[in-house]
Amino acid sequence: MNIQTAADTVRHLLQAQNEAGHQPLAQNAIVYAPANIALCKYWGKRNLPLNLPQTSSLSISLAGHGTHARISIAEGAHALSINEVEIPADDPAAKRMFAFLDLFRACTGTYFTLKTISTVPVGAGLASSASAFASVVQALDTLFGWGLDFPAQSILARLGSGSASRSIDHGFLEWDRGQRDDGLDSYASYLPVEWPDFRIALVPISDQAKPIGSRDAMNRTVAESQLYQAWPNQVTRDLDLIRDAIEAKDILALGQAAECNAMAMHATMLASRPAILYWLPESVAALHRVWQLRADGIQVFATMDAGPNVKLIFEAKQQNAVEDAFDSIDVIDPFGYIEPDIGPLDDG
Ligand code: PMV
Repeated sequence: MNIQTAADTVRHLLQAQNEAGHQPLAQNAIVYAPANIALCKYWGKRNLPLNLPQTSSLSISLAGHGTHARISIAEGAHALSINEVEIPADDPAAKRMFAFLDLFRACTGTYFTLKTISTVPVGAGLASSASAFASVVQALDTLFGWGLDFPAQSILARLGSGSASRSIDHGFLEWDRGQRDDGLDSYASYLPVEWPDFRIALVPISDQAKPIGSRDAMNRTVAESQLYQAWPNQVTRDLDLIRDAIEAKDILALGQAAECNAMAMHATMLASRPAILYWLPESVAALHRVWQLRADGIQVFATMDAGPNVKLIFEAKQQNAVEDAFDSIDVIDPFGYIEPDIGPLDDG
């Protein structure tokens, strides 16, 4: 099968499902998927309709910060509620999610009612879209009993949002860019390393709407920034450094490579025409605070995504010093998560 669109991809991955595979096994399915932060960033697509990246990327999932999703069959139209608020069909978030659900409707012939509860703190600058799209794929898989493997789940989540390909599991995940034009080898895999002392903290800077979304920003960077030509080499080097550092549980090597990778990504954006700058004065102040802490001997490192918020990377032994230096940060223990027996959607 010649795969050129997201719809082709879904059809291909679900083709093994016969008629029985399009009958729901239960009234609804409830799942949870974590958000993730890239330590080596995904920035730029090589294929827009298939959401295929120019480079590989590597992330850490955020344990209890993510999306609970409950999906069931609907009559006549899709419906979406987020945090118990009904989202009108003409809202951009609903349009994007309904377009995603339509990819599956083409196979199952059914509309869906989707309820999501996000445990990502409002204003923390975390894209909840990654965990949302990953949770929808896993909820559909459960609802219909497809038994899709992780690569297939990751590919399907990727069609909703690139970073969602890495939200299909806890821990460190690497999204391989893949070589194929059809994207069937472009999916994320779990790195088998547990690092119980590893910490991520969210420094909330602003919850205002971003001036430009990540999709448009990366497309403009690829098209307009001369510095983007250097990006694939940067990623090749950083991925090796970051993978090795994770393997060795070496926070200095990991932090240095991850911080440099984030700064380089923002440098490519800054060289776009017109320039893209997500940073606010408070973002810059937070970066200076990180660098001052390091000068004082505290091993803490920063990363930033397509927004003004700053995320910190450190180990448990530095947690007190980091909390003393930053007001109201949210510290995440990525390996300390225990799946709740009853999620917030189980009885609704
Ligand atoms: O998946 P998207 O389209 O939201 O893009 C994510 C882009 C970054 O967050 C900046 C980097 C990344 O790898 O998550």
